[in-house]
Amino acid sequence: MGNKVVTIGLGYIGLPTSALIANGGIFVHGVDINPVVVETINQGKIHIVEPELDEIVEKVVKNGLLKADEKPVEADTYLIVVPTPFKGNHEPDISYVEAATASILPLLKPGDLYIIESTSPVGTTEKMRNFIYENRPDLKDKLYIAYCPERVLPGNVMYELVYNDRVIGGVDEESTDKAVDFYRQFVKGELHRTNARTAEMCKLTENSSRDVQIAFANELSLICDKAGVDVWELIQLANKHPRVNILQPGSGVGGHCIAVDPYFIVADFPMESQIIGKAREINNYKSFWCAEKIKSAKLEFELKKGKKPKVALMGLAFKPDIDDLRESPAKYIVSKVLQSDSNGEYFVVEPNIKEHNVFKLTEYREAVKKSDIVVFLVAHKEFKSLNILEDKVVVDFCGATKK
Ligand SMILES: NC(=O)c1ccc[n+]([C@@H]2O[C@H](COP(=O)([O-])OP(=O)(O)OC[C@H]3O[C@@H](n4cnc5c(N)ncnc54)[C@H](O)[C@@H]3O)[C@@H](O)[C@H]2O)c1
Repeated sequence: MGNKVVTIGLGYIGLPTSALIANGGIFVHGVDINPVVVETINQGKIHIVEPELDEIVEKVVKNGLLKADEKPVEADTYLIVVPTPFKGNHEPDISYVEAATASILPLLKPGDLYIIESTSPVGTTEKMRNFIYENRPDLKDKLYIAYCPERVLPGNVMYELVYNDRVIGGVDEESTDKAVDFYRQFVKGELHRTNARTAEMCKLTENSSRDVQIAFANELSLICDKAGVDVWELIQLANKHPRVNILQPGSGVGGHCIAVDPYFIVADFPMESQIIGKAREINNYKSFWCAEKIKSAKLEFELKKGKKPKVALMGLAFKPDIDDLRESPAKYIVSKVLQSDSNGEYFVVEPNIKEHNVFKLTEYREAVKKSDIVVFLVAHKEFKSLNILEDKVVVDFCGATKK
């Protein structure tokens, strides 16, 4: 096993991975196109929020095992950890992976190991293998090429990077072996061998599975609303069945993984991915439905009381107890409600962030006190202990008021 690693992309996944490898005594040359990221890391600091990461980065930068740079250098192992977003039409965008691969083309030499960690559509690793060999025919079949997806939970990354199981798939058996040997140096979880296509599909399947299961709960919530049944009680009772385990409904599905990755399957297999595609639609529709429900609750209040209500919109993050607003359904709902009623009086609440560049935030207890209607969009722990007086109208999309 070589002793020099280049990681391309030093974000939420690339930086912790680089720090962990460096902490094990292997020299890591981390590359990022963002000069602020490079400068911050070379000062021994970090640009993302992740517990324990700051101490490790400070240590490995100080002892010379991690260096950040805007350009790659020659190494034995190359890890591609750049973003893979989707385009406007929900088609996966692998141009960052292509650009990262192009940047190391002149540096590659026989025997090197090339691994993609970025969440990628099926066939991406083979596509990159072909791309590399087309541009470097001298290296044909002389590289080890593999895919190894990441499944860490932000906030617990430094632990999960070590102890989670990993799925590792090479473009051939030798590549799988070589990649398994590489991860064995710093992963204590089990390393499961497969081929590159299965490993790519495995990552997409994990998040699609979550999305489909949440869609089922969200669909139940829509049915129950019409049927006059409390969906929370219903799910609790149905889950008493020894083989039933329904998830909780919410105001939609967000984040940069579950709300994104299923599209990578749907885009390539539109005819076959009926449930996966429909789940995306249901979870998106749930957010739209929530915004409409808020508007109805306001109208009803106005008709009953003869005055416009003040409304508290509780939560902006994409899930409870985090500050991450990426692809957040709550943020979508708040924007939609505010856009449709520019004269209304709203208090936007997000206890996990201090300020927002679009929304003026209000402290959560103050917002509740001042409002006639309290809408729960995210079940943050702060909201669970709120004492809400009976004269308020409560609209709870996420079970924040349920014990
Ligand atoms: N964040 C997570 O929790 C998570 C979990 C599992 C999988 N993933 C996947 O991992 C991949 C990376 O995600 P992330 O959250 O770390 O992204 P990120 O946006 O935090 O970081 C990516 C970094 O890559 C840099 N970059 C972009 N193009 C580059 C290039 N050509 N050369 C060098 N640097 C470049 C960017 O400047 C950025 O700093 C994505 O495919 C994502 O889907 C992320």
